[in-house]
Amino acid sequence: MSMFDKKTVEDIEVAGKKVLVRCDFNVPFTNGVISDDKRIVSSLPTIEYLLKNGAAVILCSHLGRPKNGPEEKFSMKPVAAKLSELLGIEVILAADVVGEDAVAKAAALKSGEVLLLENVRFEKGETKNDPELSAKFAALADIFVNDAFGTAHRAHCSTAGVAEHLPAVSGYLIKKELDVMGKALTAPERPFAAILGGAKVSDKIGVIESLIDKADIIIIGGGMAYTFFAAMGRGVGTSICEQEKIEVAKGLIEKAKAKGVELLLPVDNVVTHEFAADAESFVVASDAIPADCMGMDIGPATAELFAAAIKRAKTVIWNGPMGVFEMPRFSNGTKAVAQAMADVDAVTIVGGGDSAAAAAQLGFEDKLTHISTGGGASLEFLEGLELPGIACLNDR
Ligand code: 3PG
Repeated sequence: MSMFDKKTVEDIEVAGKKVLVRCDFNVPFTNGVISDDKRIVSSLPTIEYLLKNGAAVILCSHLGRPKNGPEEKFSMKPVAAKLSELLGIEVILAADVVGEDAVAKAAALKSGEVLLLENVRFEKGETKNDPELSAKFAALADIFVNDAFGTAHRAHCSTAGVAEHLPAVSGYLIKKELDVMGKALTAPERPFAAILGGAKVSDKIGVIESLIDKADIIIIGGGMAYTFFAAMGRGVGTSICEQEKIEVAKGLIEKAKAKGVELLLPVDNVVTHEFAADAESFVVASDAIPADCMGMDIGPATAELFAAAIKRAKTVIWNGPMGVFEMPRFSNGTKAVAQAMADVDAVTIVGGGDSAAAAAQLGFEDKLTHISTGGGASLEFLEGLELPGIACLNDR
């Protein structure tokens, strides 16, 4: 069963049908206002296709991680309002998930209309993949469409369980994510460079392991570079360093060598005496980090080295910032990588999470081939793991 050969909305008759669509509307908020609607916008092609083809559309998603039943702050109300605005029609919001109101509204829903259920995690069975709850979701509709790529790594009722009861196909967003990232992993144009950053080696071991088998160049930046430095016997000062992962990092260095993969690590770093946005900083060589200093970003020589490697590539995948990019003074390395990706004539993919936010913040969205809507999901995908929300869909 391949994750790449799943039926899509185009492979099934939707006219006159009630279609339950799982989206990932888990969007960020600032002061109660949606601060990035990319995930909502990304769901529109599937919703519009279904409406155009005569379906009655029942949408559902989680928002945040409510653990105690319904809570106003996790309500889908702002999402319903945003969707109404984007679709140009009223999106009806149910007062519950699979309760009386949702059942009545779903039953009354006509072709061309859109209903949004309340936050699926208001039902405690959701994250436990409770079979009874899955059956209740299924009872609302005739067809299940999963388009929640960002939640495809979760085996929950609304992402996987419900697919046992209904014909189940993917939407356009999942299809696009699989097409672009799947091609990069299985048949990339070479050279294929992977840039991995972020704080912890432990979050990325699986991804690095998997990419060493596929990429020609692996570039390591961010906090996890210091664990690699420790593995090379260098002092890292007070930088973040996972002692218990030093052996793993050694193994990854060895594996890259054995496979002939070019492994690039920082050659200089921006360091400070304290972890603060306004801390005084200076640049040191990566093999001479003072004992009382911590690394906050890659240095300018590293930014150039990484940018030059990116420019040699024909496929580039990036996941994880190069430094503490949320502090403007330590965002230059991350910006330099984003800039190099925007400039290169190659397939460029940003694997979600912080790096996606950084690329968006810098206004590079149009200059990149693909920015994944998945954080954890795209990492697991790059790691080569099967995603339950996709594995559960009907094969072609
Ligand atoms: C995400 O934002 O990564 C997804 O929406 C999944 O959310 P979760 O980690 O709460 O399952």
